[in-house]
Amino acid sequence: MNQFEIDVLKGLSAHPKSLPSKYFYNEIGDRLFVEIMKMPEYYLTDAELEIFEEQTAEIIKVLDLTKEEPFEIVELGAGDGTKTIELLKVLVAENYKVEYVPIDISMHALDGLKARLVSELPALSVKPRQGDYFEVLSSLKATEKRKIVLFLGSNIGNLLDQRAQLFMQNLSKNLNKNDQLLLGVDLIKSADIVLPAYNDEAGITRKFNLNLLQRMNDDLGANFVIEQFEHCPEYTEEEGIAKSFLKSKTEQTVFVKSLGQAFHFNQGEKIHTEISRKYNDKIIQSLIAETSFLVMDKLVDSRRYFADYVLRRN
Ligand code: AVJ
Repeated sequence: MNQFEIDVLKGLSAHPKSLPSKYFYNEIGDRLFVEIMKMPEYYLTDAELEIFEEQTAEIIKVLDLTKEEPFEIVELGAGDGTKTIELLKVLVAENYKVEYVPIDISMHALDGLKARLVSELPALSVKPRQGDYFEVLSSLKATEKRKIVLFLGSNIGNLLDQRAQLFMQNLSKNLNKNDQLLLGVDLIKSADIVLPAYNDEAGITRKFNLNLLQRMNDDLGANFVIEQFEHCPEYTEEEGIAKSFLKSKTEQTVFVKSLGQAFHFNQGEKIHTEISRKYNDKIIQSLIAETSFLVMDKLVDSRRYFADYVLRRN
């Protein structure tokens, strides 16, 4: 069994049913996520881009960057790099000794980013690294240069708090003293703003969620009838976690060929497919409690929707 089969077997056998959100991101899912970021309701990307556009000088200042000391900007899960390019442009124009190291699991994403940088910022030294974040980071730990790690877009929000704590511990261990982390997170706010971001009018997020069923049909020979499921997002400000579900419209049984197994759904039964955690200072402190990180600063957008926390490795 491959990992997808193992995870589907486990997730659909459980009560309540769930599936890991990482399986959203096949070729179709990647494209749909790019569309989601353009939706007017999906404020996260715009808010963080505003921080990178309007507060570039502050970012450079709080990161203690100087033109004398060479440093690396290491980005975890760089995507298309739009936000980071805003910072890189200024650093290159002002002759900082910067090298950019985007890390991603997807070679496809890295190739696209590299091509974009060659045309938009030809003077920048770019060293893309394909692979697992921590494997690459541990291989970089030996280099002398100070590292600025970027983990943007509230990507950490897909992890349960306990997993996010382990992630931060692992990150802390793989950095050196005085390295810094720019951690982009969505802030806890009212449901009338958060919920539409996960339920856009145009129905792109709905397609994104339902694509998980299509992927099981395509990759595992499952026979999900996509129309028999509904996209259901939930969020309360008290909890601060947006959750996505796929809800069965009817009682039905689905067969997954590669598992040789059938799964039964009651009418209204849900598969939990994603969490998107929102943060405040207290939750950030709890994430770094068992690490050598200290919060140095926090940059927020003009609507106070999103924050980039500046952390220093002590
Ligand atoms: C890429 C994890 C930040 O949780 O907001 C967007 C993914 N899911 N709409 C998020 C997502 C549904 C996104 N992150």
